[in-house]
Amino acid sequence: MKFFIDTANLDQIREANELGILDGVTTNPSLMAKEGIKGKEAVMQHYKTICEMVDGPVSAEVLGTTYDEIIAEGKELVKIHKNIVVKVPMIKDGIKAIKWFTDNDIQTNCTLVFSAGQALLAAKAGATYVSPFIGRIDDSSWDGVQLIEQIVGLYNAQGFMTEVLAASIRNPLHIVRCAEAGADVCTCPLPSIMGLLKHPLTDIGLAQFLNDAKSMQ
Ligand code: E4P
Repeated sequence: MKFFIDTANLDQIREANELGILDGVTTNPSLMAKEGIKGKEAVMQHYKTICEMVDGPVSAEVLGTTYDEIIAEGKELVKIHKNIVVKVPMIKDGIKAIKWFTDNDIQTNCTLVFSAGQALLAAKAGATYVSPFIGRIDDSSWDGVQLIEQIVGLYNAQGFMTEVLAASIRNPLHIVRCAEAGADVCTCPLPSIMGLLKHPLTDIGLAQFLNDAKSMQ
């Protein structure tokens, strides 16, 4: 399973990248706004900076909701860097646009996916990635990881090449469960990645080893 970081914060991207386990980055308009980025120029520059930091796919989301707007924005986004993936919402015009991007060799990430039916349509249109939002599903008392399992099963049964990108990750256990469910990619906030490192017995064991090592000096 590939690890993407789900943020537009450059310090967090740098920290995850320095771990050596980072395969890519996802952003969305809310994450970009959180960084205080304002104006088209600044947004484009921010994507460029991220692409120069991480050698892997960087999802940049369109803001338009009509077919023409999505295509025009996507064409501009992919000019920024070869690793840009155009992130398109799961709406009717979004599916039409994904098909156009597929036919023109432009990578896409179909976002805001909450059902297997939506994932089926995204794959039919040729999306490179499909992003089911598992945390938001859990928030409404459904099981987000179960949706990952269902989509992975569906894609395997039908031979679709679209990669299942588990999004809206809330904690380290989500990451582990998505890996078990066969997700191709998990896009995670930095604290969830760092949470994978933690176990109290590791800390206790290391303290003991370091203490005992002193007796050998
Ligand atoms: C990533 O592609 C999604 O936009 C993101 O994971 C959504 O996460 P949230 O539900 O925490 O906002």
